Amino acid sequence: MARPILVANWKNHPSSLIEAKTLLRQLSRSSKLYKKLFFFIAPPYPYFALVSERLGNFGQLAAQDVFVLPSGNHTGQVTLDILKSFGVRLAILGHSERRALGETNDSVSQKINIALRSGIIPLVCVGETARDQDGEHFEFLRDELKLSLAGLNRKNDIAKLVIAYEPVWAIGKNARDAIAPADLSQSVIFIRKVLTDMFGRKTAEHIPILYGGSVESANVRALLHETGIRGFLVGHASLHTKSLEAIAESLI
Ligand code: PGA
Repeated sequence: MARPILVANWKNHPSSLIEAKTLLRQLSRSSKLYKKLFFFIAPPYPYFALVSERLGNFGQLAAQDVFVLPSGNHTGQVTLDILKSFGVRLAILGHSERRALGETNDSVSQKINIALRSGIIPLVCVGETARDQDGEHFEFLRDELKLSLAGLNRKNDIAKLVIAYEPVWAIGKNARDAIAPADLSQSVIFIRKVLTDMFGRKTAEHIPILYGGSVESANVRALLHETGIRGFLVGHASLHTKSLEAIAESLI
């Protein structure tokens, strides 16, 4: 079985370079543990140099977004050639916090394409804003997947995709507010079905699906139990070394 995937999404934390250094020093004490996984850290841009230098061989650098245009004069943007020069291997695309700022399925689809052309793994985030009794959120999920992944047809490209199911209502809270394991497995089955309709069973069954949304040491084992996920996209708990270690340990 392929290695589990753990992505630490630092968002816009920690708030100083000194704290970022401390966090990395603490993380590196468990480097043996992280080496057993595909482990990525997605820090804010100003910490890229530090993270790429200190991650050594126990993890890889990830971006929290990409800019769609090729290198050129784009004040305020960071183009893919720069990301690549720091060793970025994966990019979180379509995160709900970016969608809330106006990111559309269309731009997610463009970003997937340009990330792939640059040899960067697209980690595509999808998730409903609310669940309802009638299951209408599944339609939302289907549309978001279909539109975000539109235009992907090369087998080689599809094989590099990773999906993160992040129900928006469960993000940034705590373990008690995360999704119930039974609902998670239902969503994973549904996502797998949409991927199968789009790409065929053989291709779809190999696309890893991660879960994100208030993953903490307290709920990690329940979320893994027979839910069909391959790993986690972790926000706030990734800033606490002990919590992240517990999450990593549950994956191996
Ligand atoms: P959270 O964030 O773990 O703090 O809920 C997850 C994410 O937004 O990627």
